[in-house]
Amino acid sequence: LPYKVYYYKEVTSTMDIAKEIAEKGEEALIIAETQTKGKGRMGRFWYSPKGGIWMSLVIKPSFSLKEAYLLTYIASLATALAIEKIAGIKVFLKWPNDIIYKENDKEKKLAGILLEVKAEIDKIDYAIIGIGINVNNEISSLVPEAISLKEILKKELKRKDIIKELIKEFKDLLKVESIKILNLWKDKSLTLGRKVKIIHPEGEKMGLALDISDDGALLLKTEDTKILKIYSGDCIHLRN
Ligand code: BTN
Repeated sequence: LPYKVYYYKEVTSTMDIAKEIAEKGEEALIIAETQTKGKGRMGRFWYSPKGGIWMSLVIKPSFSLKEAYLLTYIASLATALAIEKIAGIKVFLKWPNDIIYKENDKEKKLAGILLEVKAEIDKIDYAIIGIGINVNNEISSLVPEAISLKEILKKELKRKDIIKELIKEFKDLLKVESIKILNLWKDKSLTLGRKVKIIHPEGEKMGLALDISDDGALLLKTEDTKILKIYSGDCIHLRN
């Protein structure tokens, strides 16, 4: 792997370890077998039982703060591509960065991304990309809207193969121009063209998910036909 790897049996969250390492100015990959306080987006708890991939990548990208949004798109794309290659299944992306498996009519979450960025003025000091993938662990009994690769394939996969492929895809995508990244993301999107509800600390918004703008926002057409730019939040797909 092109990064220094720190491996732990158990941690509170790989995000915590990553932060300490990032503060020392290092780039690294932190992997843990289990997390006791796994963090999800929007302050949620992230179940991290043995058998999954729970890792945080610390990088010092030469991005401006304005381009930081690209990192979540790159990370979710890299994760999706690695899963497709190693598990041999097709997966989709739900805005902003959930990796989804479609089973009959249901959409089940396979993996999620959590991005933390430290920036000074406009320059990114470091970024911590937390990636959680349900691989050989059970999850659907704990989280009904989630699924693991083992639950799909009825067999175990080598987590190392997925991690290696993911890091390779990630490094390759870092070199790709932003417009292309967004187009690759859109090709795998389950959200665009759908009626959605966006949950945000400042309130909920409903509308039609139109597109992703060049600066990474979700363009939402509301009932009163306004077009809103949504930069963060959680998205629920509604039945059309
Ligand atoms: C989400 O809510 O979808 C994001 C989940 C991110 C989970 C990963 S697991 C490794 C890293 N450490 C954490 O505590 N969270 C991220």
